[in-house]
Amino acid sequence: MRIKLLTLFPEMFAPLSASILGRAEKAGLLSLEPIDIRAFTKDKHRRCDDSPFGGGPGMVLTAQPLHDALLHATRGFAARRVLLSPKGRTLTQKRATELAKEEGLILICGHYEGIDQRAIDLWVDEEISIGDYVLTGGELAAMVLIDALARHIPGVLGDGASASEESFMEGLLEYPHYTRPAEFLGLSAPEELLSGAHKRIESWRREKMLTETREKRPDLFAGLELSFDDRVLLGLEEKRRRRSQNREANEE
Ligand SMILES: C[S@@+](CC[C@H](N)C(=O)[O-])C[C@H]1O[C@@H](n2cnc3c(N)ncnc32)[C@H](O)[C@@H]1O
Repeated sequence: MRIKLLTLFPEMFAPLSASILGRAEKAGLLSLEPIDIRAFTKDKHRRCDDSPFGGGPGMVLTAQPLHDALLHATRGFAARRVLLSPKGRTLTQKRATELAKEEGLILICGHYEGIDQRAIDLWVDEEISIGDYVLTGGELAAMVLIDALARHIPGVLGDGASASEESFMEGLLEYPHYTRPAEFLGLSAPEELLSGAHKRIESWRREKMLTETREKRPDLFAGLELSFDDRVLLGLEEKRRRRSQNREANEE
């Protein structure tokens, strides 16, 4: 996937050359191309900001340099244009997975108090927020988005299965992990995981996914459609059976 990054601070993307994403770039699976918006300003002092019409605090990123940078970025590159913005739809695992299927993306990083709305109206296909808080610029948000979606590009993670088994993939949180030693400071790893019995391990993991989600993210849990097996794992089937037995006994 080819990603062009429109930013006033191209140097902020240096961390992406480390670790898994750095390897993905070297392997040609991911190409990250920061484009300096300031290089396109026609202002003689190289300014890209001005005070807001109507007054108020802060400065506004002017439309001209961003517009010209986008003309440059889109030449021969018809990619989806995403603005990182606290006003956007909150990033989810689902959206990251969908965006990972795009051949290319243009990510626009804002700065200052805001961006001249005309540049947004002219260019932006979608606004994405990484959460309900305000950052100083869109660069960190863009890096979060890139990291989240790159995991779903085939070949980026060594083990193809790892992205599909993670939290949120089925609307559930992931099960807990354990590794050697089996005993640590008197705490044992769950015997199910040490049993070597595939079915037992699967069942333990599914139960933990369900209970972790119920406990830590009741909002996610409320939206789940539980299968019969899930209900059995949660003890809900047992409770239902006992309730109906009690009801029948009371009716007799
Ligand atoms: C200081 S913020 C501007 C906030 C704006 N005044 C507001 O209240 O909505 C500057 C830039 O940081 C980025 N940004 C800030 N918070 C963000 C978030 N939660 N998600 C994505 N981008 C964010 C955007 O690109 C934004 O244009």
